[in-house]
Amino acid sequence: MKVGILTGGGDCPGLNAVIRAVSKALILQHGAEVVGFKDAFEGMVERRYSKLDYRDVSGILTRGGTILGTSNKANPFEYHARDGEDVSDEIVDLYRELELDGVVAIGGDGTMSICHRLQEKGVNFVGVPKTIDNDVAHTDMTFGFDTAVSIATEAIDRLHTTGQSHNRVMILETMGRYSGWIALHAGLAGGADVILLPEFPYELDEIERVCAQREDRQEFTIIAVAEGARPVGGDMTVRETDESSTDPVRLGGVGNVLKQQLESRLNSEIRTTVLGHIQRGGTPTSFDRRLATNFGAYAASLVARGSYGRMVALQDNHLTSVPLESVADTNRRVPEDSMYVASAAAVGTSFGRSDFDIEVADLGDDVPLI
Ligand code: F6P
Repeated sequence: MKVGILTGGGDCPGLNAVIRAVSKALILQHGAEVVGFKDAFEGMVERRYSKLDYRDVSGILTRGGTILGTSNKANPFEYHARDGEDVSDEIVDLYRELELDGVVAIGGDGTMSICHRLQEKGVNFVGVPKTIDNDVAHTDMTFGFDTAVSIATEAIDRLHTTGQSHNRVMILETMGRYSGWIALHAGLAGGADVILLPEFPYELDEIERVCAQREDRQEFTIIAVAEGARPVGGDMTVRETDESSTDPVRLGGVGNVLKQQLESRLNSEIRTTVLGHIQRGGTPTSFDRRLATNFGAYAASLVARGSYGRMVALQDNHLTSVPLESVADTNRRVPEDSMYVASAAAVGTSFGRSDFDIEVADLGDDVPLI
């Protein structure tokens, strides 16, 4: 067996753990040859690849980033380095030339969409979902998310002590694109007073009410805001756009917008911290290493069984796989009946909505922990 492997889209803690698991499992259990493509699909178009031996993937379990490199400008159907030309046939040619049985692609919804289109042209893919955002459809969790949440939680913990000392309103902006999973989980773990998510547009009056009430009691306030959060009737805050990217809209800056919006309404000083790429760098948590290793070993078993055109998924604590097609260009968002939302509301956290009356009791007896 001869199998390719690549990482696509933004990097994420745990990518190396997957590369290691896929490669070691294929080499040790199936005597396969593994070929690593550099910088996502660019390596397949530009023919930048090398054989990955057992020793190449040893000692990388704990390392952040990806030893293969990655890119979000490598869509072969609109190849940015060649004026948006469709170069996908070159990938098909290389795949045949190298006599590969399949390729394991570790990426988010954009990568899965490209894999699906290439699969239709005869290139066999197994997908492995990655992203700190936790927004890939049909999987309860992606690796990288736990690490990002841990870092954001630590940031909230640290903001607590300085916020308390100065009686300030402290805003923490997290990443997450169009989903609020990082802000929700870190906000719950860090005991934020207000959590603002893209899924539930916020009312400034309600945030003012919470902060002012706390001011009256001489209390500081912690606000965890997801980068995709927006006011009712308003837009998301866009940091920049880049048409050459598979993810052209970059969100960011809502933390500072919110500070400006609140300044005239409150007496307290307000400070904003934008956590940014700190959430994506560095070593993965123990949980992410385990999830990544399980995903990688399972992906290798799909390859060995010839189950191509599918993405590894975690559903109800079971590993399974779903068609690549079902994942392509879709996002998993925080549902209003999330237990995490209900728990936060139960302990008095505001979601910046006066009409929010979600209660744990309304979720029934058997509540999925999402
Ligand atoms: O998808 C991961 C992510 O970190 C998002 O949370 C964030 O919006 C985006 O990537 C940032 O992209 P870039 O690294 O291109 O600035």
